[in-house]
Amino acid sequence: MPIINSIAALEEQMTEWRRDFHMHPELAYQEVRTSGKVAELLESWGIEVTTGLGKTGVVGVIKGSGDGPSIGLRADMDALPIDEMNDTPWKSQNAGVMHACGHDGHTTMLLGAAKYLAETRNFNGTVNVIFQPAEEGYAGAKAMMDDGLFEKFPCDQVYGLHNWPQMPAGSIAAVPGPIMAAADKFDITVRGKGAHGAMPQNGVDPIVIGSQIVTALQSLVSRSKDPIETAVISITMFHAGAAFNVIPEEAVLSGTVRTFNPEVQDLIEAGMKRIAEGIASGMGGSAEVDFRRGYPATVNHEAQTQLAADVAGGIVGPENVRNDVDPTMGGEDFAFMLNEKPGCYLWLGQGGGASSENVHHPQYDFNDSVLPIGASVLARLVEELQPKR
Ligand code: NI
Repeated sequence: MPIINSIAALEEQMTEWRRDFHMHPELAYQEVRTSGKVAELLESWGIEVTTGLGKTGVVGVIKGSGDGPSIGLRADMDALPIDEMNDTPWKSQNAGVMHACGHDGHTTMLLGAAKYLAETRNFNGTVNVIFQPAEEGYAGAKAMMDDGLFEKFPCDQVYGLHNWPQMPAGSIAAVPGPIMAAADKFDITVRGKGAHGAMPQNGVDPIVIGSQIVTALQSLVSRSKDPIETAVISITMFHAGAAFNVIPEEAVLSGTVRTFNPEVQDLIEAGMKRIAEGIASGMGGSAEVDFRRGYPATVNHEAQTQLAADVAGGIVGPENVRNDVDPTMGGEDFAFMLNEKPGCYLWLGQGGGASSENVHHPQYDFNDSVLPIGASVLARLVEELQPKR
């Protein structure tokens, strides 16, 4: 069972949509043109459309031939604040904004699947095609859920996919369990006492305190958590001082924590506070930790991942479906949906050629040749999970 024929025939049209989205990228919650085009296309195929969920999110409802359960298929629509360095005819026309994560391709593949499903209705129950805003750090999935996504459009299961440049084009990863990390942010404000740089005895140096905190925090990873568990603490900013001969009052350290296991996440959050406050007070200053939880870990459900792997194998051949790809410490807000509904987040290989650059790179571009594969997988998931009887 290869690529669905009528979806293969859509390749040229999908490529046009994809390049049009690519030329007109929009940042989080500003996807006005993109969501407008999505809604217009869905409506032109007779699909009932709701807009404005999570500000710029769009949901299309496709009813099957008979009663049955419902399935949610999700794509993201937002771009990144990157200046594109490619020189293609479909290069970004919005300076400083670029589809550098392939969300233009994700939106297009879901449109292709929606068109096919609306024309054929070769399934029972309901399909909700969910086009979300703001995946890149602004939790558009959660914004749609807070606006009642799953109450207004009940879904028994949810599926989504992301392109994966490190995997060969046309291969698919369906990996059970945690595949992407929880992504948290923190700021540590260290307060000391300002003084003349030549007279440290009159002050409390927040830079020296902050430096101790930087090194001590890594002991949470190496000494406090179970070595079998994974965690990353990266201090990516250390701001203090403005003059060569002045000890400042304050230093601010900021960064990110990535984990898979909520217990490890709790342990690190508590440990950061203990270490920062303890070191600062021991050295005569004080520290305040502002730890902000971001996206939870993306955890694929076992049974749904197996189903998705079987469907993907039918499209690309079982030999091209992998369940053993290493998880990544990157974050993904489809995690919020998978925390509420069983489902699976697939990775679609698209490596090689112009797309060999990784996502979030200014020379990245989505590989259009995989559009029919992704659209076929999404459409076939519906037909296999909710067969017409
Ligand atoms: Ni992405």
